[in-house]
Amino acid sequence: MNPGLSELQPYPFERLAEIRARVQPLTDLPLINLSIGEPQHPTPPRVHEALVRALDGTARYPATRGLPELRQAIVDWAGRRFHLPAGMLDAERHVLPVNGTREALFAIAQCLVAAGGARDLVVMPNPFYQIYEGAALLAGARPWFLDCPAERDFRPDFDAVPADVWRRTALVYVCSPGNPSGAVLGDADYARLVALADEFGFTIVADECYSELYHDEQRPPLGLLEWCAAHGRADFSRCLVMHSLSKRSNCPGLRSGFVAGDAALIDPFYRYRTYQGGAMPVHVQHASIAAWTDEDHVIANRAFYRRKFDAVTPLLAEVCTVTMPAAGFYLWPEVAGDGIRACERLLGEAAVLVLPGAFLARDTARGNPGARRLRIALVADETECVTAAKRMQPVLRQLQGS
Ligand SMILES: Cc1ncc(COP(=O)(O)O)c(C=O)c1O
Repeated sequence: MNPGLSELQPYPFERLAEIRARVQPLTDLPLINLSIGEPQHPTPPRVHEALVRALDGTARYPATRGLPELRQAIVDWAGRRFHLPAGMLDAERHVLPVNGTREALFAIAQCLVAAGGARDLVVMPNPFYQIYEGAALLAGARPWFLDCPAERDFRPDFDAVPADVWRRTALVYVCSPGNPSGAVLGDADYARLVALADEFGFTIVADECYSELYHDEQRPPLGLLEWCAAHGRADFSRCLVMHSLSKRSNCPGLRSGFVAGDAALIDPFYRYRTYQGGAMPVHVQHASIAAWTDEDHVIANRAFYRRKFDAVTPLLAEVCTVTMPAAGFYLWPEVAGDGIRACERLLGEAAVLVLPGAFLARDTARGNPGARRLRIALVADETECVTAAKRMQPVLRQLQGS
């Protein structure tokens, strides 16, 4: 048996289910669930239409590299979005479709970690998307948690990692915009991380699956490929990015994304995926082309989220410490006292389900960075999100006073 299996932590939603089973409702209000990061805006009709038109794709085995027209659509989109000079990102050498970023974030560790080798660490943000930890453990590596504290606007301080950790590091996951904080890595963050990658020889895997859900239309989040282009790193050396249609185009059930970057990493990952069986079904590829070639639905999607953030954040700011994130669809407030206790009270007294921040982070020398926080996913419709915030107010106000 893979020894990493026994080290896997219960998934946050298993821990939340345990709270749900235990907490007695003190109200008969219908439950509003803001705990899960599952987009609920409708999938654009053009994606459905393309999917249906291509249903005869079920009669063919898909190729791991994907259709040339899908890779080209991805390259065109990424080129526009991240200001890449024409030809820098090559559809043949730099891009692979993946069945959502979750499986690819997991699989890349299998590809990059040499089990039993000297590079036995995977550095990841804390709090973090849980797949990074499982990917490290099941690849035979150890996770190394890098706190993303409020004092640094929830960005990791790469200089806080000791050199002997970097020497043992196979890969670093970064998540920008971050889940749960919405924090976006800037030019200086990437400059430092890339310099460290060059010095110590590790790979950077940037999870950018929230990159299209930003609040200021004039300031889309910086991407790692964009950083490479701006700094003359034409071969994207040591850099990979992961992108998804799940949040951008509201189709988490389509299972579609891509990995792009350094050809010297894409090539072995391609070989790995031919054995793994990671090819994207042909009809999903056609639906994905329809999504990557349209920006209007993405702009509308951002507008929906913006309205919700604008309506909910001031209500919560009256009763806890909360800031509008730069991107993503989560609020990450600090509450008075323990976040798990706050979650229990919100469930019992307000019939609002949110995720305790502690479930998304691990203890380090500084404690658990999520201990006093909640993750609130603004995925429900605006009225429901506002109703939830109003219901939460008296509970959070009481916590503040106690
Ligand atoms: C930070 C982060 N990365 C990756 C994913 C996976 O998304 P998907 O597999 O739908 O692309 C999620 C999903 O919630 C996420 O929050």
